[in-house]
Amino acid sequence: MSDQIFNITTPIYYVNGPPHIAHAYTSVNSDVIARFMRLDGRKVWFVTGTDEHGQKVAQAARAEGCEPLEFCDRISARFQDMNRLMNISHDDFIRTTEPRHKNAVRAMWEKLKASGYIYEGVFAGWYSVRDEQFFDEAELVDGQAPTGAPVEWVEERNLFFRLSAFGEALLEFYDSHPDFIAPASRRNEVVGFVREGLRDLSISRASFDWGIPVPGHPGQVTYVWLDALLNYATSAGYPDSLAANGVWPADVHVVGKDIIRFHCVFWPAFLMAADLPLPKRVFAHGWWTVEGEKMSKSLDNFIPPERLTERFGVDGVRFFLVREMAFGADGDMTEVALQRRIVGELGNEFGNLAHRTLTMIARYCDGRTPAPGVLTAQDEALLAQAAAMLPALRLQFGEQALQAATQVIWNVVGAANKYLQDEAPWTRAKGDPDRLKTILHVAAETLRRLALVLQPFVPDAAANLLDQLGVGPQARSFASFDQALVAGAPLPDPRVLFPRPESAPPPAGAMPSPM
Ligand code: MSP
Repeated sequence: MSDQIFNITTPIYYVNGPPHIAHAYTSVNSDVIARFMRLDGRKVWFVTGTDEHGQKVAQAARAEGCEPLEFCDRISARFQDMNRLMNISHDDFIRTTEPRHKNAVRAMWEKLKASGYIYEGVFAGWYSVRDEQFFDEAELVDGQAPTGAPVEWVEERNLFFRLSAFGEALLEFYDSHPDFIAPASRRNEVVGFVREGLRDLSISRASFDWGIPVPGHPGQVTYVWLDALLNYATSAGYPDSLAANGVWPADVHVVGKDIIRFHCVFWPAFLMAADLPLPKRVFAHGWWTVEGEKMSKSLDNFIPPERLTERFGVDGVRFFLVREMAFGADGDMTEVALQRRIVGELGNEFGNLAHRTLTMIARYCDGRTPAPGVLTAQDEALLAQAAAMLPALRLQFGEQALQAATQVIWNVVGAANKYLQDEAPWTRAKGDPDRLKTILHVAAETLRRLALVLQPFVPDAAANLLDQLGVGPQARSFASFDQALVAGAPLPDPRVLFPRPESAPPPAGAMPSPM
């Protein structure tokens, strides 16, 4: 058995339309966790990808007059562009149309059949193509799916999975693994749903063919959610090497709150039926609105990520997506909030702290890292607060409390700004040059630690600052967190970290009014 690897996943995105900012949200937050774990010395397997089968995608392809696969190739490539744009550091990008995945789905069918949890029956009920989900009559709200999506009547001979056999086992599992579903409110929702009793699940479709064929049942294709959930196993090496390579089980599946039933009920039941280990955790994040409105086609407010990165830079947008909304809660994306977080906090509070410190070192210390003299209580206090960040962040990252993690960091940014204000090093150049150097040493040391822990959030800006502080690539992992700057080392000329974003208002249609 190889070393256990930290396996983190995003949902695989439907390719019925191009990526928008909420997709970037899920991927950026997952990326921040993956980068943190790597910097903290873990081996990581970070997986994302595209969900390409099913009626929804087939219909979208038809609407464009394309063959489904050609359409999927085109849209999947746009998700890969989004990953490059947003600086996503995934280790695997999986497409459900790949042979390795088809092979895994086939193997899973064989396993489920052999385990006796599959039977043939007639499905008669409602289907929402938008949700790719079956509903009973009783679940409909005003003739629509509970999500508001239209439904159509479906009556066909399908293969069923005996989900009803797993109710007790699932409840026991939730009970003995209190950390499996987070946040806690989502856990209650799932437990409540399972307690009401589970019905068997139709896991094949017969009325269209854009899916993975069910072995031994011509005319049936795999239900898209069984197909999609299995991507996590495919990427971890199922069926050939899942048990041996240290990737499975997943440490955390990051998903939106709308898809927890699939991840917390269906997925563990499939895995139990196939005798495979269950993931350690499913973390459900909340939903964004834009200027108070739900994202929707009719409002045309599915913001493409590039529309924001062009104005605010990639690091700015990454920072906003983690900083603005508590991970797990809902949030609103507004022009005011973008300005406050990116221009106010990242640019002014952090960027200016860095620039002020570095320009003073250039000016008063001959461009060399200053050596400290005797430390005052104020110096010690700031250094101690900066040193305490890493253990605090480890705790927050253990719970995926990413917004709280940014607050740990921002408390130090605030304290460092106050320190400089109070100590006013620029007034000491003539009278007390030793004290001036000590203050700038303390500020530079604090910046070094800030830059190290900001790497997962704003990788380019953090690297830029570490360059300016003379911290080499070998001293950038968290193992070097306590390795102080070398006094006397020559530093490059200071450069602004975050050039001010365009002050011009966004182009028409960039964001709905009043943004
Ligand atoms: N294909 C499925 C997932 C299969 S995983 C085995 C799917 N895809 S999706 O493209 O529709 O959604 C992907 C993710 O984007 C979901 O986690 C969803 O919650 C998230 N978001 C879509 N709109 C959103 C917001 N407005 N706000 C935040 N995230 C939301 O579901």
